Amino acid sequence: EKSECVSLSPMREAVPAPPECERVCVFGTGDLGRSLGLRLLQAGYGVVFGSRRPHSSSLLLHGAQVLGHAAAAQSALLIFIAVQREHYDFLVPLANQLKGKVLVDVSNNLRKNQYPEANAEYLQSLVPGAEVVKGFNTLSAWSLQNGPSDANRQVYICGDSVEAKQVVMAVATKLGLSALDQGSLSVARELEDFPLQLFPQWRLPLRIAIGLSAAFFFYLLIRDIIYAYATQGEDISFRIMVSLANQVCPIVSLIMLSLCYLPGVLASFLQLYRGTKYRRFPNWLDSWMLCRKQLGLLSLGFAFLHVLYTLILPIRSVEHTLKCTHTHTHTQNKTTTFDTTTAWRGDSYLSLGILGFGLYVLLGITSLPSVSNVLSWREFSFVQSKLGHLTLLLCTAHTYLYGWNRFLSSSIYKWYTPPGYMLCLVLPSVVLLLKLLLITPCVDRTITRIRQGWERGADQ
Ligand code: HEM
Repeated sequence: EKSECVSLSPMREAVPAPPECERVCVFGTGDLGRSLGLRLLQAGYGVVFGSRRPHSSSLLLHGAQVLGHAAAAQSALLIFIAVQREHYDFLVPLANQLKGKVLVDVSNNLRKNQYPEANAEYLQSLVPGAEVVKGFNTLSAWSLQNGPSDANRQVYICGDSVEAKQVVMAVATKLGLSALDQGSLSVARELEDFPLQLFPQWRLPLRIAIGLSAAFFFYLLIRDIIYAYATQGEDISFRIMVSLANQVCPIVSLIMLSLCYLPGVLASFLQLYRGTKYRRFPNWLDSWMLCRKQLGLLSLGFAFLHVLYTLILPIRSVEHTLKCTHTHTHTQNKTTTFDTTTAWRGDSYLSLGILGFGLYVLLGITSLPSVSNVLSWREFSFVQSKLGHLTLLLCTAHTYLYGWNRFLSSSIYKWYTPPGYMLCLVLPSVVLLLKLLLITPCVDRTITRIRQGWERGADQ
């Protein structure tokens, strides 16, 4: 292999890196390798690319050098390996030149468990004389070129040599990134799986939302639309678009809101039952508690849709009435009497819905990191717990008042099935009742003592 320095730009003379600047080597001239090289150059490093064919390289990075692999490896202490894992064996013959060098494995896989061991561990086994550090794999070529945004400024690294990690961290800092040391090279596998995860905390809440929406959609479809067709031969399928949607959305929203508060209540009862806070919660309860924020935000989305649908109800009924007056001539002149009780019920449930929605939005806003970061823990837990339960109470009351006295009439149990709003009241009512039990003074006292470290049976 030829090892002389070549120019990257065919029209220019070779541009050797200034001797005083630190050199970093990049193996691999793909997208990621080139973007890394560019960022390193911008940060003031001398960049040397290692390439199989240094002369025919089409790499056009002004200011960087391209050398053969062996010469490139010798020119720097730090070498980024931006090459696919399948091609790692080209490094084996370079063992001598790579001795004592810090190799950064930036690779990612296409799917989990693609290989028996982590790419970085495989690299280390191929070149035992070098110090392998896994890192930067969560960065994309795109974010490197455009300058990392806040969200992907963090890079995770791991490796067995503390000194090697320090070298890599120093480079990361100079590139404007913040590197987080995750430990030894055995963590590499986890880091490699990291970019493969797609919204991990959203998965369960999304499944719940989709499952509940589908279940209630079909339930209401059968109860309302198919029932009307089967019993009266009436086609009211148009109701799918607005009426049905405006039932599914609030029902799913209310159930998911109660699912946000159920794990907290269950955890308190578990602590009461065990008489201590020092035992771990079961895993399912832990993971449920961890996705409460996502559950809450999704349910806020559904509530928002309900409000939008409700806003268009008047427009829609005016349109329908106009169509009816065109086609039918009114023969009867009905007089309706004003009923104060009904008016109270109507206004109350609307008002409770609005208040509930207002608090709902407040909960959503305070769960955003930029807002919750400026709140103290006490303020945050006041909003999320006290106001959260109040929101659940208001929305549940809104639905109870909407149902009003219809709970008692048998005509609404079409095909012996209860309407959707009754079904969706079960869970929030249970959560609120349990919460009520928890805030009764004697239970509350015990819970507070347990949370302060008291253990039942320990003081005997
Ligand atoms: C039903 C209004 C907020 C849960 C209704 C209905 C209206 C309404 C007009 C009757 C719909 C119909 O007749 O088809 C409002 C207004 C809100 C609001 C104006 C706030 C601006 C909420 C919130 C929730 C909620 C935050 C909680 C998740 C429900 C439920 C029903 C309902 C479960 C019964 C759905 C059914 O099965 O028909 N609301 N609402 N509402 N609302 Fe709200």
